[in-house]
Amino acid sequence: MEKIVSLSKRRGFVFPSSEIYGGLGSSYDYGHYGVLLKNNVRAQWWRAMLQERDDIVALDSAIIQHPRTWEASGHLAGFTDPLVDCRTCKLRFRADHIEQAQCGRKPSKHPGEAPDCDLTGARDFNLMFKTSIGPVQEEGSTVYLRPETAQGIFLNFKNYLQFSRKKPPFGIAQIGKSFRNEITTGNFIFRTREFEQMEMEYFVPPDQAGMWFEHWLEQRMNWYTELGIRPDHLRLRAHQPDELSHYSSATSDVEYLFPIGWSELEGIANRGDFDLTQHAKYSGQKLEYVDTASGERYVPHVIEPAAGADRALLAFMVDAYDEDEIEGERRTVMRLHPVLAPVKVAVLPLVRKDGQPELAAEVYRALRERFQAEYDEGGAIGRRYRRQDEIGTPWAVTIDHQSLEDATVTLRDRDSLAQDRFAITELGEEIERRLRAPWHSPKLRA
Ligand code: GAP
Repeated sequence: MEKIVSLSKRRGFVFPSSEIYGGLGSSYDYGHYGVLLKNNVRAQWWRAMLQERDDIVALDSAIIQHPRTWEASGHLAGFTDPLVDCRTCKLRFRADHIEQAQCGRKPSKHPGEAPDCDLTGARDFNLMFKTSIGPVQEEGSTVYLRPETAQGIFLNFKNYLQFSRKKPPFGIAQIGKSFRNEITTGNFIFRTREFEQMEMEYFVPPDQAGMWFEHWLEQRMNWYTELGIRPDHLRLRAHQPDELSHYSSATSDVEYLFPIGWSELEGIANRGDFDLTQHAKYSGQKLEYVDTASGERYVPHVIEPAAGADRALLAFMVDAYDEDEIEGERRTVMRLHPVLAPVKVAVLPLVRKDGQPELAAEVYRALRERFQAEYDEGGAIGRRYRRQDEIGTPWAVTIDHQSLEDATVTLRDRDSLAQDRFAITELGEEIERRLRAPWHSPKLRA
């Protein structure tokens, strides 16, 4: 994980937030390549949800919603962690994580074990961030930053039935920021207080819930492996009955083998009719599906695949990170699936003279119409390849003296290091072809 953190900062993927003020615990900023990579993660999720199916529609709901939302959803009463405070070191710990925590004064001991530890009893601490709406803080002005994107979908269920001409089974998908005042943070962007979720609520006839739950388990596992995650680093883990959330009758987590051990990437839950029934009760609105032909009416059950964009990005980075040796020189290379790679192609003149930079710039301008591309003429060619390898660029086009004679260039592959010659006019098509080809992590063979 340290290597990922260091590469992220060095190469502009992710920076600790507010660093000039000493940082703000567990907040991160995405730099240029991080933005491009996260955009690609989101785009692939949208593609799987919207473009490749015709039963899911998109939503972008507000972050601040009516406070009754959180009463109905159960978050106000139950979205809590049990915490203990130490009156001596002033640190706060999750009561159920004391065995993994370090005493503030004596880090070799757990809280409560050193002689001067003075712990309070466990108290429930709500994880929602509170703020107030309007110019004065008064009774009724309290609102919350959403702790999950899911509820915005339930609030819009009725709108979607009316406008989208969908009937169960159908889904509503949304990507957006969520906020939780997490107590146990750390492990880089794995758990932060402000993060991005990719959630889809799939509304089904009640008797089909089991079948669709299985469907989504399979779909979501395939999404990660098709984007290059090594299958032996991915698993499904069914929740034990005592782990289930208040709304869920079955949940399985997609887990990835992070350097910190097997950890949750995404949860897939059978939420039953909990949310629609609760919001119907609290809002006084009917939230049910009525079949106009048969007159049948029911409250759909919901299957929810809920993923984290930041966590997925971290898993893709961890899975891609590799080090090897080329002609006796160490290289760090991000073996990202080409569709996820922040930059698809780099254009490099071999030397900075003889008309090569001019031709390279022309090739670059043509390629960037179709792909995220970079032009680099600074430094030895080996060093420029290394720079692109480190950010995961799958292909590099090199313009050499032959290019000026016959309008051909070499196309270097990040993983195989093969350099094939193509006519400049064929380059775009060749890169398109490679982008569409199935891809497996070369680390699988290692
Ligand atoms: N609507 C259900 C729900 O929110 P969750 O398991 O609490 O379920 C879903 O969250 C996903 O959101 C997680 O699997 C994880 O990827 C991501 N996530 C949750 N809390 C997070 C945090 N503090 N930091 C980063 N990602 C988080």
